[in-house]
Amino acid sequence: MATPLHPLTDPYGRVIDTLRISVTQRCDFNCIYCHREGERNPRRELTVEEIERIAAAASSLGISRFKITGGEPLLRGDIAEIIQAVSPHAKEVSMTTNGSHLEALAHRLREAGLARVNVSLPSMRGEIFKLITGVDALKRVLRGVEAAIDAGLTPLKLNIVILRGLNSGEIPRLLDYSREIGAILQLIELQPLRRGSTIWRRLHLDLKPLEKLFEAEAARIEEKGEQSRRRYHLKNGAVVEIVRGVENPEFCLHCHRLRLTSDGYLKPCLMRDDNLVDLLPLLPGNPDDGLIEAFEEAIRRRRPYWVRQP
Ligand code: 5AD
Ligand code: SF4
Repeated sequence: MATPLHPLTDPYGRVIDTLRISVTQRCDFNCIYCHREGERNPRRELTVEEIERIAAAASSLGISRFKITGGEPLLRGDIAEIIQAVSPHAKEVSMTTNGSHLEALAHRLREAGLARVNVSLPSMRGEIFKLITGVDALKRVLRGVEAAIDAGLTPLKLNIVILRGLNSGEIPRLLDYSREIGAILQLIELQPLRRGSTIWRRLHLDLKPLEKLFEAEAARIEEKGEQSRRRYHLKNGAVVEIVRGVENPEFCLHCHRLRLTSDGYLKPCLMRDDNLVDLLPLLPGNPDDGLIEAFEEAIRRRRPYWVRQP
């Protein structure tokens, strides 16, 4: 992996070091809150070779942390090849998965170069899990979590999007479970799918008060500057993070990532669709043809979405 001379910064001085690579929009779950990583009607899925070329271009600019996402990335039959192809260009390759195929694949993914996984776990109660995801798969996901830990895909994070009245009462149980298995619990504030969407109005819970609560309960607080979040090591041994991306200028201020959609656009911001940079026309060409410039253009187009009101 080549070391770039300068870290890549956007017009707001934010260093860009992470690329979230969506490898498919397909998913075997149908979560009521899914934002589909801000993507709609994909044209087609990028091939392994195309993803590798894009990862190589990113890496030459200093973007060398790759997060593989979807849809559900494990639905790609060639997911191990994708990981193997991007690994040589990466400081770290991690993945966000719904866990439903993790039991069978965890060891293969580890061998291919995957460092760690975030598994979405919207509930520890079977019926609520089914209500949220549309699929009766809680036990399968829990077996996937075990397999991932066994394969060394750690530190494993459990992602839970907090939904008021649906799973918000489960935080103590999730804290216990994550402590027992040595995972980090990541509590995620529900992002609006569209402004004023019904799901959001009914189920959004402001997580700010939880920060105060965990501050009081923490033996130690780690600032994860590069991830724009704090990690609370609680006195009882549980480790928890809060992702509060809604109406939070601090979140945008520290945002350090760019997205690649499954069909080949660079997406400067999850919340916007009007500033994409199309990589597909550049891919049939020679290596490096325009890809570096396309990255630079996408980074120039980055604007914080939530800004402090004057
Ligand atoms: N708000 C917050 N998080 C969401 N995710 C999916 N949709 C939303 C939403 N509307 C989460 C998934 C996964 C992560 C990649 O994003 O549950 O954990
Ligand atoms: Fe969306 Fe993830 Fe749920 Fe699939 S598992 S529907 S990608 S939030």
